[in-house]
Amino acid sequence: MDSETTGDETLYDALRDDVARLLDRHLESPRDWMPHEQIAWGEGESFRDRPWSPEDYPLPDGVRSSIYVNLLTEDNLPYYTTSILRHAPHGHPLRDWTQQWTSEENRHSMVMRDWAHVSRCLDPVALEEGRRAQMAGAHVPEPASLADLVCYVTLQEKATQIAHRNTAARLPKEDRAGRAVLGLVAGDETKHFLFYRDLGTAAFAVDPSAMTRALSRQVATFEMPGVGIPQFTRHAVRIAREGIYGLGHFVRDVLEPVLELWDVTALEGLSREASQARDDLLATLVHLRETVERAAARALLRGPGAQPA
Ligand SMILES: [Fe+2]
Ligand SMILES: [Fe+2]
Repeated sequence: MDSETTGDETLYDALRDDVARLLDRHLESPRDWMPHEQIAWGEGESFRDRPWSPEDYPLPDGVRSSIYVNLLTEDNLPYYTTSILRHAPHGHPLRDWTQQWTSEENRHSMVMRDWAHVSRCLDPVALEEGRRAQMAGAHVPEPASLADLVCYVTLQEKATQIAHRNTAARLPKEDRAGRAVLGLVAGDETKHFLFYRDLGTAAFAVDPSAMTRALSRQVATFEMPGVGIPQFTRHAVRIAREGIYGLGHFVRDVLEPVLELWDVTALEGLSREASQARDDLLATLVHLRETVERAAARALLRGPGAQPA
């Protein structure tokens, strides 16, 4: 299709078989795991008998911030599901996928909270207060179309996978349960990313112009899903300084590989608007790279080992 005649309805029809195929592939490689089996329950202690203290589980600020932000992000799941279901009509396999996805995301907050409480890696009061504030705000991305949704969630699942994986790597070696929990969560995020990435490939084949415009919009406005968390910016800076996740990761490990896989620079037959959107997208990429380089230069001035914030 070489022009932007494809609305969401046509895209839904054209992607029906791809969604069914990718959902089958997802279900055939289950890598199944049970949340309750991951936790060292015998190591838990009542917070009533012994209130939490940071010395219970010493951690650099950035690692603690990352666990807190990543867990609260998973807590916000009901709102993401609501937002995504708007683009998953009844009777379409996207509905089945979204329900499967919701079930998998749900175990992330469960297992992370169980681990956090037993290991005492987070202040349980701050965690509960953060959960209430985050959920009362109900701040989630609201992609305007199916094309926008596919682009956003592809980027977001990859970004989330990196954040969980890099947090796991910074936990003390002795916390085998914590490393295993975050590793399993990161594994699920990888599978979610693969689903959306390959759905994106199929959508680009159907309507490259609509997808290019959507991708350009989503990259220009991309926010990690935790922006509604209290003091999110402060936590995000700590997380970036710890080298867990920051703009550099977004550019190098999320955006560049996805643009390459979707072969965005070589797409042919784009409408005039889509061609302009691709130019804007590539200009955004250049700007983001420059921002990352400037931050790296500032980090060098701060001293050896400093990470860009
Ligand atoms: Fe998750
Ligand atoms: Fe996910």
